[in-house]
Amino acid sequence: MTGRNDAMKNLPLVICYTNWAMAPWLERFRTADPARQILTLDHPDQPLPPRFLLTCWRPAPDLFRRIPKPELILCPGAGVDSILSASPPVDVTITRIVDPDLTGRMVEYVVLHALYHLRQMDRYARSQRERRWAPQHQPAAREVTVGLMGIGEMGLAAAAGLRAVGFNVIGWSRSAKADAPLPVHHGRDGLADFLSATDILVNLLPSTPETRGLIDARLIAQLRRPGPLGGPALINAGRGDAVNDADVAEALASGSLRAASLDVFTAEPLPADSPYWGLPNVLVTPHVAADSMPDAVVTAIMAEISRFEAGLPPLYPVDRRRGY
Ligand code: NDP
Ligand code: OXD
Repeated sequence: MTGRNDAMKNLPLVICYTNWAMAPWLERFRTADPARQILTLDHPDQPLPPRFLLTCWRPAPDLFRRIPKPELILCPGAGVDSILSASPPVDVTITRIVDPDLTGRMVEYVVLHALYHLRQMDRYARSQRERRWAPQHQPAAREVTVGLMGIGEMGLAAAAGLRAVGFNVIGWSRSAKADAPLPVHHGRDGLADFLSATDILVNLLPSTPETRGLIDARLIAQLRRPGPLGGPALINAGRGDAVNDADVAEALASGSLRAASLDVFTAEPLPADSPYWGLPNVLVTPHVAADSMPDAVVTAIMAEISRFEAGLPPLYPVDRRRGY
């Protein structure tokens, strides 16, 4: 293995994670690679070494105008939208995380919330508050179709988890998936058939110009009705901007969407005046579907750094043309 020249090895690693407690990350990075200089970027005017690697999460919009060019950008999460929207230098490789810990957490979230809607837990929570004994008609999971938007790392694993508890599962992706273990529709032409068969819609799409605002009144109107649950449900664990908030809130208030689990939002933290907080058929979680955990993520980032130093292509590069 030839690798890179020595000037590109053991470069300092600069960490810039917005709104994350830094101590556990610093400890893990320093333990994983004691010989490497690990720096935090406390403010973007701070002097940086001439060459460095950067790991950043939710960078300030002007970060890349204010710091010298990194040699490599490592995203500690799966979604790179916040990095791309900060206009990183065009010729720098960006990597993202694909890791069983992150994926497993997303599977837990999707299966939990699909079962929550299947078993109509919002109705039972309400009848408990009202001290009412109110059994509901209960369809079986096999009668309910979960439609997964996004059949990538998270979507494929979620599909397996959903099938394991008995749901009928279909998918929708950008490109055709002839070998997928489930029926997958693709592209705008495949959307109508996908939606008309879907009882529980799960968004696991990345945020890109094509996916922003996709889940609007027109799309919601195409979901299967009334379906076995008396109306469709939505689970959004991808990105908040996939949703047209006014349309989704209106559909939930009118009952056109039976219920929703929302983990991601256009504005995070979700503002106190958001209608989602007060809707009895909505379950809000604070962007925790699949948290990036330091142990798993630091191992994955160090693996990408080792490949960079060895002159090998990254395991999980971001395709900037596609936007994910
Ligand atoms: P992948 O890149 O592996 O998969 C993305 C999937 O979306 C692919 O199937 C892709 O299609 C599909 N897709 C992208 N654009 C379109 C489009 N325009 N039309 C149809 N399908 C499209 O991503 P991951 O599965 O690893 O992660 C998905 C997203 O989950 C992340 O981008 C992030 O936003 C979110 N996430 C949320 C977390 C949370 O805690 N809430 C945690 C982790 C991730 P194709 O296969 O054809 O390329
Ligand atoms: C991610 C996230 O993209 O946590 O990994 O949202």
